[in-house]
Amino acid sequence: MASHKERFADKMEFPPEIEQPNVYPLSWESHTKKLQEVWEAALRENWEPEKLPWDTLDVDSYSWEEREAIAYWWTLLSVFDASAPPVFAEALIKTYEVHEEDPVRKCFFSVQRDEQNHEIMCGLAITKLLGHPDPITYEPKTELGKRLQKNTKWLYFNGSRYWTGYKQAVPKYSLAVLFSSFLMGEIAAATIFKQMYENSREAVFKEGFKNIGRDEGRHMAICMAVMERDYPKIAEETKAVVTKQIRAGYLFLSAVLFEPPMEFWDLPEDFIANQREAEEVARMAGFGIPTYEAKLENWKNAMLNLKGVLDRYNIPFPAIPEVGITGQEVSDIDMEDIIPVF
Ligand SMILES: [Fe+2]
Ligand SMILES: [Fe+2]
Repeated sequence: MASHKERFADKMEFPPEIEQPNVYPLSWESHTKKLQEVWEAALRENWEPEKLPWDTLDVDSYSWEEREAIAYWWTLLSVFDASAPPVFAEALIKTYEVHEEDPVRKCFFSVQRDEQNHEIMCGLAITKLLGHPDPITYEPKTELGKRLQKNTKWLYFNGSRYWTGYKQAVPKYSLAVLFSSFLMGEIAAATIFKQMYENSREAVFKEGFKNIGRDEGRHMAICMAVMERDYPKIAEETKAVVTKQIRAGYLFLSAVLFEPPMEFWDLPEDFIANQREAEEVARMAGFGIPTYEAKLENWKNAMLNLKGVLDRYNIPFPAIPEVGITGQEVSDIDMEDIIPVF
């Protein structure tokens, strides 16, 4: 409202119209049954990262190189998962501002809670493995550890630029656009955590991956339900934005699900070599990071999955030559356009 000081009550019987978007609805409409079901599942499937069997993790059974390599993967994940609570908090506010129906608000609240759990899980793993709660101020014990810390600093720098772009993007886009970006992250996340679960031998990590993977599956269901609700009436100009967002999302999420494309990620030349070396060390120590080929396969399937969804609504899919998918060429990607999350 323009001014809180202006008085109306002595001039009129009922208050004036409220300017929109305004922060909250005073209504509890409920139309999408699927979303209510997902909300109830989220309550049922609640878990606490702190209560996982951490006492079974004997960090001394690993070499320092292995500890630093596994901690590096959790750190890489944190670049996405530690930004997820504020990212979804921002999205949750948006669902209130646009007066979304009650089950959408509840589902977004549950996503935020889940992402907080994922972030807590990352923090616990890193703290135990490094014996230090912060991978940036940690003093590396090995030569590989030193190079990985340099990688971490660059990842973190890139993540900070993403946050600025995201904050500018959220008010610009409708929920329909936001959901296409979210869905992309969720499809990919659900797959990778399933693989990490299957291929990791440490009980506490397995348990964590199982829970995170289940959460991501619910997030995917939320996105699908909202898209099914909104996409049949999506505007033509919105479709073009979705196509662009998908390409941007591919570039952004590739950093954790595949390998970071240098056209988008501002990273030093030795970054990928260091990361590959760490992944190999972690794999040999029984930590289930998929191989390059498995990641490629994964990522491609996730993209094809998403393409299947967009095809249903005649939304053109972008070309993703990196994984062999042809489609509409999207070139002018820059940070301001990025809104995907993990
Ligand atoms: Fe997550
Ligand atoms: Fe998620």
